[in-house]
Amino acid sequence: MSEPVTNAPGVKETIKGHKRLERNVTLLAVGAFITVAIGGIVEIAPLFWIDNTIEKVDGMRPYTPLEQAGRDIYVREGCYTCHSQMIRPFRDEVERYGHYSLAAESMYDHPFQWGSKRTGPDLARVGDRYSDDWHVQHLKDPQSVVPESVMPSYSFLAKAPIKFENPAARLGALRMMGVPYSDEDIENAEKDLAAQANPDLSSGDLQERYPKTQIRDFDGNPKLISEMDALVAYLQMLGTLVDVNDAAAQEELATETGR
Ligand code: HEC
Repeated sequence: MSEPVTNAPGVKETIKGHKRLERNVTLLAVGAFITVAIGGIVEIAPLFWIDNTIEKVDGMRPYTPLEQAGRDIYVREGCYTCHSQMIRPFRDEVERYGHYSLAAESMYDHPFQWGSKRTGPDLARVGDRYSDDWHVQHLKDPQSVVPESVMPSYSFLAKAPIKFENPAARLGALRMMGVPYSDEDIENAEKDLAAQANPDLSSGDLQERYPKTQIRDFDGNPKLISEMDALVAYLQMLGTLVDVNDAAAQEELATETGR
């Protein structure tokens, strides 16, 4: 640097101060900490004042006890090691699987099923795409419907009575995680679980508390509420709760109006 600049009024002092900062490790560390902390606060502080980072969409509701039981079986059997449940906003994915996944669609998932590990296809919108019979046949013997499939057989699920020892406690635990089950949902959990797989037991308030619930015998064996019933109920619900085209329109509107 040339002389005249350092001679300007005030500059000498600034340089002196900077020299001290740069030569004193403790001072430099404190200074660096303060600078980084400002950046951190700017990012984190707003999160204390907004209730939710997920935009709400119509139609999303917590899982019924039977669907939740199916989901627990899905996780237990490691279906996630081959299947993701997250359609990314890319043209090839949207053309193959349907509308890309919205954050709100997995807001009640514990644990979530995002990811990109796809030995098999994404399942985020597989609900209503096949018949129950197809699912049961496919889960029992995948190669009988898709000869080149590498998916293993899960035929034992059809014979396993559902062991969901305390459905109320299961829903209660999820409520602690922030899933909005009502007291009524929790009280009725055991009844609801049976009612969804057996239309004769269903009194109608299941539909009321859980809109769009599919109520029927899913595995073709009305004598037993099996793990197959629960898993198929879960698969048939995936991606059917939110009217995505409508939700997407809302989202677009929100972006346009800067809401
Ligand atoms: C070893 C990897 C693997 C595992 C584990 C696995 N799958 Fe699959 N799955 C596949 C493959 C590959 C396909 C595509 C061929 C077919 O349809 O069988 C598939 C297809 C499917 C389909 C049809 C999807 C569609 O859109 O056509 C469903 C539903 C499904 N799997 C459910 C499950 C469930 C539920 C589990 C756990 C009980 C599971 N899978 C475990 C590999 C796997």
